[in-house]
Parts: sequence; structure tokens; C-alpha cells
Amino acid sequence: MNLCVLGAQWGDEGKGKIVDLLTPRFSLVARYQGGHNAGHTVYVKGRKFVLHLIPSGILHPGVVCIIGNGVVVDPTALFAEFDELIGMGVDVAGRLFISDKAHVILPYHRELDVLAEARRGEQKIGTTSRGIGPAYEDKIGRRGIRMGDLADASADGPLSIAVQHNVDARNRLVGNSDMKWQEVLADLRRAWVRLRPLVIDTSLHLHQAITAGSAVMFEGAQGTLLDIDHGTYPYVTSSNATAGGAATGLGVGPGVIGNVLGVAKAYTTRVGGGPLPTELLGEMGERLRETGMEYGASTGRPRRCGWFDAVAVRYAARVNGLHSIAITKLDVLDGINELEICTAYRCGNQTLTEMPSDLAQLSLCEPLYETVPGWSEPTKGVVEFDRLPENARRYIRRLEETSGVPASIISTGSDRDHTILRPEFSPF
Ligand code: IMP
Repeated sequence: MNLCVLGAQWGDEGKGKIVDLLTPRFSLVARYQGGHNAGHTVYVKGRKFVLHLIPSGILHPGVVCIIGNGVVVDPTALFAEFDELIGMGVDVAGRLFISDKAHVILPYHRELDVLAEARRGEQKIGTTSRGIGPAYEDKIGRRGIRMGDLADASADGPLSIAVQHNVDARNRLVGNSDMKWQEVLADLRRAWVRLRPLVIDTSLHLHQAITAGSAVMFEGAQGTLLDIDHGTYPYVTSSNATAGGAATGLGVGPGVIGNVLGVAKAYTTRVGGGPLPTELLGEMGERLRETGMEYGASTGRPRRCGWFDAVAVRYAARVNGLHSIAITKLDVLDGINELEICTAYRCGNQTLTEMPSDLAQLSLCEPLYETVPGWSEPTKGVVEFDRLPENARRYIRRLEETSGVPASIISTGSDRDHTILRPEFSPF
């Protein structure tokens, strides 16, 4: 059975560890959206790997990794990651393929990202400055450059015309700027020499593998509340991080996606601007940030922290069709006397049990909390549900009840082994 693993909150839920943990059950791991804005941290035997673009399945010998058409790829970032993996002794040869339809992030996308944020002023989104949004803008605007387009070596062919056109357009937009399209094109030609063996029709590759009986894990980046359609728009990323994105972002039918596993922290974090109803601005927020090491894996920015928001996870369960959730970082809550779970929002004189679409309304929402007792015993490294302190078990059960999905996995530490698997809820 295939499985889609995605973020059920605002990203940074710990998907990297969960994907890494489950990878041995699959022959292929396929990324379907986003770019190197993602940062998936994986600890293997005490060694830390941070993957941005390449699926974390690459750490398992023999597993084939796919970067789908829905991903935007910065060749410089890709090579840097590739080389780092090789330097750390990971054998990547013949195990990574990139869709010929994936769009390329170019230097002007990065510059436009920074410029657009500066122009937004107070309303800035807090993007990762990786050029993600502008690359997707070019894709939707039907002027983007795709991986497969880089094969065109002719001096005045479609690639050279597109690069010239796009760089000129960007120079007009920025004003007094003289980016040289010839230099951008020369860089792309150099990159192609290395990219060529990796670029294939990944939809066909997946189709053939699935038909032959191979199991695939579809790997989402960012999270449901950062999805371009279903997130807290406009404070979102520019792609579909939700389960539907796996079908369009990889060229597979929705029927092959199989099970959907949402990853959610035992509390909530968000990096960048936009509403976060359960945000804790005082001491408790600081405590979660420090204990949970809540600093961006890609940008190092401090993450905003808050209590578990069951309204948000319930919403994620709906828009993704979640079969179960993986609850991560339970151990971060060790030693807190009382915990709060947000079960609804108060907005003026209304009580909302569903996530509102209107950002202005969401910004006015106050969380309605249920208080539950915490636990003093450590949960770090616990591998059996029954070995958790009683209040930790009660807390997990309340998270399941309030978000409406069973927890098939509970993570109690950063290492692969620090994990509770609950086969009774496991769809895989
Ligand atoms: P962009 O994806 O760089 O355009 O950023 C848009 C929003 O998504 C910003 O709020 C970012 O902080 C957020 N974002 C992008 N990637 C990630 C991620 O991997 N984890 C958490 N937040 C992210």
C-alpha cells in the first residue's frame, strides 16, 4: 500500500524523521511540491542530516528518490545538497531522478523574492528568500523554464529565447539593473551537463514501478496551513502541500495515493508572518522554543510557538483525508504542570469549531482551551505506549479525540529509535 506523508500544521512538524523511519517499507520516495525552502532534519545514529530538496529516503541504500514535476528546483542548491550527501558517505548514484517537467529556480527568482518582501513592508510573508514564489509565478504565468527544456543546446532555440525574455522582463521590473541573460544561460548549460542523467519522465517511472508492485511513499513539504489553496492565504507558500498535490505534483492518479498520514507536533509552531491562534508570547512560548530547539532548519529563524491547535489539525484531517497522525516531539512537553489544547475559537460572540477561510476573521480568533494535567516523568526515548506516564497517554488520547484522527506513531525524541508505533492504528 502506498502512503502519503504530509504536514498537518504550519510546517516543521518533524516529517523528515517520520519519512526516514518508514522508508524501509517502500521502494521509492517521491517529493511532490515545494523546493529548497523545506528543511527536513534527520538524525541517524547521532549524525545530523538536513535535507532541503532531496527526499530523506536517500539515506536508505537501494531506495529510489524522485523529485516530481510539482517541485521547483534550484540547480545550485541541488548540487550543494548532492555533494554534501556524497561527502557524508551516502551513495546517491543512480538513485535520484528529477522530473523533466519540474520548473527551474533561477537567480532572478531569488532576487524577485527578496524584492517582493521588501515591497510588502509590514505585510511581508516572511518567505525563505529562496525564490520559490516567483518560480511558481513563472510556472503559472506559462513562461517558466522546465528541467527538460535545458536539453536545448541551440544558440537561438526556445531555451535561449525564454531566458532572454525572462531576464529582460525581470530587469524592467527591478529597474536600473543589468542582469545578463547570456550569463544566466551559460550557467544553465553548465548545470545541464550534471543534471542530464538525473532528468527523466518521473510520472512514467512511477507508473511502471507501481504496476510492477513497488510501494511508494509520497513526501509532502511545508504543511496544510501553508498550502496555497487551503492555508492561511496569503501567508502561505506557493504550492499544494496537501494530499491532492501528490497526484498533480507527480503525475499519478489520486487512486494510487493509498493512505494519508499527517504529521503534527504535540504543540504548534509557525515561522514567518500570518495568524497563529494559539501563539504563546511569554515564558511558555520561550520554553517550548528552547526545549524543542525551534529554529528553522533552512533559515535558522526562531519559530513562533503555541499550544496544540485541534481546530487546525481537524481541518488538516478534512482537507487531506487523513487516516492517522504521527504526533512528534512529545518529550518537549515533559515537566510542564498543565497543558492546554485549543478545541475551538472565540471570534466576537461566535464560537467557531471549524477553521475560518477569512484571514481577517482568523486574526481576531481567540483560542478556547481545554486544560489537561501534564507529567513530570521523562518520555524521551520511550518506545511503548503503555510505558508513557499516565498523563502523557491521556494527553495523546485527547489530541486524538479533539482532532478526530488516531495517532499511529508517537515520536519521543529525535533519533529513529525514539518512536512508539501503534500497529492497531497503522495503515501501513
Ligand atoms: P516561501 O515558501 O519561501 O515562499 O515562504 C512562504 C511561507 O512559508 C513563509 O511563512 C515561510 O516561513 C513558510 N515556509 C516555507 N517553507 C517552510 C518550511 O519548510 N517549514 C516551515 N515554514 C515554511
